[in-house]
Amino acid sequence: MWSLSTTDRVDERAPIGVFDSGLGGLTVLSELMRVLPHERFVFLGDSARCPYGPRHPEEVRSFVLEIGAHLAQLGCKMIVIACNTATAAGLADAQRAFDVPVVGVVEPGARAAVHMTRSRRVGVIATEGTIAQGAYERAIAHLDAGIQVFSQAAPEFVRIAEARFAGDGSVAAEEDQRWAQQYLAPLVQRQVDTLVLGCTHYPLIADLIAEQMGEDVTLVSSAEETAREVRAILERRGDVAGPDAPLELEMLVTGDDAQKFALSARGLLGVEAPVAQVRLAAQLHEGEGCS
Ligand code: DGL
Repeated sequence: MWSLSTTDRVDERAPIGVFDSGLGGLTVLSELMRVLPHERFVFLGDSARCPYGPRHPEEVRSFVLEIGAHLAQLGCKMIVIACNTATAAGLADAQRAFDVPVVGVVEPGARAAVHMTRSRRVGVIATEGTIAQGAYERAIAHLDAGIQVFSQAAPEFVRIAEARFAGDGSVAAEEDQRWAQQYLAPLVQRQVDTLVLGCTHYPLIADLIAEQMGEDVTLVSSAEETAREVRAILERRGDVAGPDAPLELEMLVTGDDAQKFALSARGLLGVEAPVAQVRLAAQLHEGEGCS
């Protein structure tokens, strides 16, 4: 296992690196920007290889290490894996490989659910990769072993979220609703009172999901808890940027959809951010991208 050392450089203006396979990570970035309004952020969307969900965990793990190395080389003082699939596949290895703190989204999402549930019946929807690895079951059991967890892979939701933000409006199409019913009806039947949106893309279609689940079910995402954790780590290390520093954001994409990311940054984050295409060393397994 190789290691990149950045511990000699104590620069509070060093950026926080955040990445996902696509637009989903922006839901986490948005919360990070809210609670850390004086930081520099570099967001990397691995859109050329999106979706991660159907890929083998070994392959996703290699993406995590590759992107982590890229962000560490850019001098990031911290790395946030804003993707559940990538967290499940590669967080532990990334934490061993890099000398900067690496935070994932599964543990924070599990924590949010454990705090929220009253009936102790929790539903989890996520990509097939996250579900197959039992990531949430394990994380929730670690926090509170008595909670019953009902999991459902909902891979089409990634495509639906990406397509919506590619600019074809906000009204859920009939087909989207059929997918929502297929994925969520079993969880309604299980009478969960809390549903974890265990993929960072899903908050982008929370309305579609909420409509199926009904108003008695609370939807939780990892974003807030993750952002709180990132701030706590930076505070502990004395690495929070000073109060006079401006918020800055730079975006990198591996696909040829820089324009889409620029529009999403404006729509979702309310900022104009430069977006550049980056080619990672081993972009060997490019698919069509999510949209
Ligand atoms: N947004 C990602 C997640 O949280 C992955 C979506 C995908 O690429 O399949 O799992």
